Amino acid sequence: MKHLTPPPRLLMGPGPINCYPRVLSAMSTQLIGQYDPVMTGYMNEVMSLYRDVFRTNNKATLLIDGTSRAGIEAVLVSCIEPGDKVLVPVFGRFGHLLKEIAERAGADVHCIEATWGEVFEPQQIEDAIKQVQPKVLALVQGDTSTTMLQPLDQIGDICRRHDVIFYSDATASIGGNPFETDKWQLDAVSVGLQKCLGGPSGSAPITLSERYVDLVRSRQHVEAGIKADHHSAGSGSRIRSNYFDIPMILDYWGEERLNHHTEATSMLYCARECAINLLEEGVTESIARHELHGKAMLAGIQGMNLQPFGDLTHKMNNVVGVHIPSGVDGEHIRHQLLHDFNIEIGTSFGPLHGKIWRIGTMGYNARQDTVLHTLQSLETLLRRGGHKLHPGQAIDCAFNVYSGKG
Ligand SMILES: Cc1ncc(COP(=O)(O)O)c(C=O)c1O
Repeated sequence: MKHLTPPPRLLMGPGPINCYPRVLSAMSTQLIGQYDPVMTGYMNEVMSLYRDVFRTNNKATLLIDGTSRAGIEAVLVSCIEPGDKVLVPVFGRFGHLLKEIAERAGADVHCIEATWGEVFEPQQIEDAIKQVQPKVLALVQGDTSTTMLQPLDQIGDICRRHDVIFYSDATASIGGNPFETDKWQLDAVSVGLQKCLGGPSGSAPITLSERYVDLVRSRQHVEAGIKADHHSAGSGSRIRSNYFDIPMILDYWGEERLNHHTEATSMLYCARECAINLLEEGVTESIARHELHGKAMLAGIQGMNLQPFGDLTHKMNNVVGVHIPSGVDGEHIRHQLLHDFNIEIGTSFGPLHGKIWRIGTMGYNARQDTVLHTLQSLETLLRRGGHKLHPGQAIDCAFNVYSGKG
């Protein structure tokens, strides 16, 4: 076997993207034991840092080991008892994922669906809540499959009025778009590192309200091998996953430090660095940076005579969908971008497969040089492939955004 020598790709798809160099360095830091006071100190720091990332005072703010869907699965399997009603408004692939995970947890899942490229009005969600009367509303904020950003600011109030637990998957949007856990009255949120936070996939930060914690504590069943006399079982049914049992994970992260899994130390270092990086820049500043570079990318795309996908008033700052023009072989262009320019852009799923490309500007790659380099390279390939465009216009349009004229 040769040494690892991956090509120096520029990852401009919908995530993962290139990591911040400081995050990569943090990951290669030497390990310490899981109960070393320095390690438990780092765990406490991570809880505190992610409270600021999520904009919450929730005590229960921690990491689930695994990729973003581990966070989704932990939140849903811990609060859903078989037969519970769950409402999932679906506006892309990741809504379908929430539905699937809730179903596997035994929920009676009800969906409403929006056309891909659109989002829901709050009234549509309230009407569905009145009709279904779910225990949980599970709603994606930014669905990378369609690039749409569902407004959440009025949904928490609706959920409180109807006594519904409000969960959102903000994996693709946090750090690049506004997100307010407490102000928007969310009960549970899960994310990942590999989008606007600029880390690798493999750790899923979550935050949980007291209301959510009380609910899952009623299902507390401590493992036999570590159970002590003061541990009493909750009245609810035992959570169906051991690994994703949130009450047990809370006790591992809490004062009791009751053994559960062995915390993934390198990923914790990495998640810690991602949060510090974001907070040093400032949450507001990071969102503004994603907005600026997202706008420049969009302007450049339009400048090379390409049509963006979906309702642009609800587009995420950090990714744009682009209709593949007729007569152009979308996969061939992606192949050339990757092999001739070392740039990766995304394809799409389901009904959009083969119809749109997805181009991201997020985390470490939300920068002027990456935007210009991607636009210039794509323009060159399209021009050589016979697509009608004005050479240089894409870059001019992007520069106009950067100079405040666009
Ligand atoms: C909105 C959303 N949720 C969940 C996921 C799943 O993430 P992971 O692959 O880290 O499990 C993704 C990944 O793209 C995503 O965009």
